[in-house]
Amino acid sequence: MTETASAPRIIVTGGAGFIGSHTVVALEEAGYAPVIVDDLRNSRPEVLEGLERILGHSVEFHRIDCGDVQAMQAVFSQPVHGVIHFAADKAVGESVAQPEQYFSNNIGSTARLAGMMRERGVQHLVFSSSCTVYGEAGELPVDESAPIQPAASPYGFTKQACETLLRYSHRAAEGALGVALLRYFNPIGGHPTAEIGELPLGTPANLVPYLTQSVAGIRSELTVFGSDYPTRDGTCIRDYLHVCDLAEAHVAALRWLERAPGMLDVFNLGTGEGSSVKEVISAFERATGKSVPHRFGDRRPGDVTAIYANAEKAAQVLQWRTRRSLDDCLADAWRWQEKLKG
Ligand code: UFG
Repeated sequence: MTETASAPRIIVTGGAGFIGSHTVVALEEAGYAPVIVDDLRNSRPEVLEGLERILGHSVEFHRIDCGDVQAMQAVFSQPVHGVIHFAADKAVGESVAQPEQYFSNNIGSTARLAGMMRERGVQHLVFSSSCTVYGEAGELPVDESAPIQPAASPYGFTKQACETLLRYSHRAAEGALGVALLRYFNPIGGHPTAEIGELPLGTPANLVPYLTQSVAGIRSELTVFGSDYPTRDGTCIRDYLHVCDLAEAHVAALRWLERAPGMLDVFNLGTGEGSSVKEVISAFERATGKSVPHRFGDRRPGDVTAIYANAEKAAQVLQWRTRRSLDDCLADAWRWQEKLKG
């Protein structure tokens, strides 16, 4: 065992997921003791083995639903320093077909978790939100003062609703609960050891896992959704950041809450740079020497033309910036894909 026996315990809901598992590593590296709460409905137990290989020891793990108040008693029975809440359903298309599930799981579990924290006097909460709250932003890069747009999907609505809910919880706690609302742009990549990465169940909906599976021959080709957008090359623009950079932002947010207990604030987490789908394909080919089989297809309903972050607030307040390049992201995503294949 390491020094983690006395390290501050941080509950990581959804800690076996893509962003959650990388955050577990970042927390350990920063001297915290992460405690994974995950019912594995959308992730795999092998992630825990990958984490063990990276860290050299196992991580405290509870296979439970973080919204199950009874089951969570055991986790809260030891002192808890803070909570990072990732656990949520996250497929935009599925949310359109199953809105009740998304409302109940995403909003319900956040409400119960915030309630448990307040009851037990746990002071620090970091919440996974999304740039989806901005919709098609009027001005780019988008900063945190940009208006929230009507949600384009039940999934997007649950992120907005949880932000609002946590603002009310924060107010009700009268200084006893600090909240960092983190609006992620597009996390990609994987741990450089290729021990953990993105594990899409079924056909990937997101660009990079679909791209790497196409190169690996699991899919015949990538379809680029739309080539007639009013952008520099006709394809959509997003702000892709390395998942390890994003993981480190959660540690920075915890540190900020420790410096400023009882505060609530919202932070964009992105690189500040937009890349088009064509640019991602070129960067992948440059970083790996592999060519990406692709064709140009119709636009995907619901996609915004372009969005990228003004991430200056996170730089100033959280003292966090991305450090890894788009090429690093894609090289690590490919290394992970190759590991999955072998
Ligand atoms: N894309 C393709 N082909 C694909 C998949 C994606 O061309 O097979 C394009 C999309 O059209 C988009 C870009 O790649 O232009 C990125 O798409 P992703 O699906 O990877 O990411 P999104 O920006 O659509 O979605 C992300 C998160 C969601 C969140 C949404 C909010 O994954 O959780 O941002 O905008 F809701």
